[in-house]
Amino acid sequence: MRVDIVTLLPEMFAALTEHGITGRALRQGLLDMALWNPRNYAGDRHRTVDDRPFGGGPGMLMKTGPLLDCLAAAQREARGRVVYLSPQGRRMDHGAVARLVKTPKLVLLCGRYQGIDQRVIDSAVDEELSLGDFVISGGEIAAMALIDAMIRLLPGALGDEDSAASDSFADGLLLGPEYTRPRQVAGSAAPEVLLSGDHQAIRRWRLKQKLGATWRKRPDLLAGRKLNEEEQRLLDEYQAGK
Ligand SMILES: C[S@@+](CC[C@H](N)C(=O)[O-])C[C@H]1O[C@@H](n2cnc3c(N)ncnc32)[C@H](O)[C@@H]1O
Repeated sequence: MRVDIVTLLPEMFAALTEHGITGRALRQGLLDMALWNPRNYAGDRHRTVDDRPFGGGPGMLMKTGPLLDCLAAAQREARGRVVYLSPQGRRMDHGAVARLVKTPKLVLLCGRYQGIDQRVIDSAVDEELSLGDFVISGGEIAAMALIDAMIRLLPGALGDEDSAASDSFADGLLLGPEYTRPRQVAGSAAPEVLLSGDHQAIRRWRLKQKLGATWRKRPDLLAGRKLNEEEQRLLDEYQAGK
């Protein structure tokens, strides 16, 4: 897939391109990423990219001309689905990430200042996505969160040992507690079953913990879910403290 990012701060994306799993996936070409800066489309001597809002009020908006020209340039070779990262969008979740990673080309529009002119949204944006119900200073961090989450779902991006299929949300549940060496940490022992070598018992224990963690921390995820017989029995046991 290809992701084109419209941003006034392209240098921020080094956090993705130069580090960890995302950096490796980009170097391997699992995802092509291109950065487009509206400042390069500003015609005046000062390369102005902000403008005052009609009607007054605090702050500035992104200047429409450079933004639209930059978007048009990003769309020229192949049209992509335009996502505006915005606090007013639908909140990002695993479903949105899994849907968008199947899109051949995405254009991520990162706002700055007080945001962008409504007519740019109406004419050029296909959907708005939010990182959460709070306001951050620009869309870049939200765009990076989306790209990182999409990369984790691309075949080959993760080694088998940390496959995204076992991540929280992949099957609609949270991941349960995990343990590593040594056996005793902070006066507490790792659960015996995980050291037993009994794969069936470990699978059942892990499933029970996933159901229990989801019930305790995110009951909303269980609300619309029909549990099968085994899942219901394991959740009943968890709730009964067994
Ligand atoms: C300071 S914010 C503007 C917020 C706007 N004045 C409002 O109240 O809706 C500047 C830019 O940051 C990005 N942004 C802010 N909060 C966000 C969030 N929760 N999710 C995604 N993007 C966000 C958007 O691209 C936005 O255009």
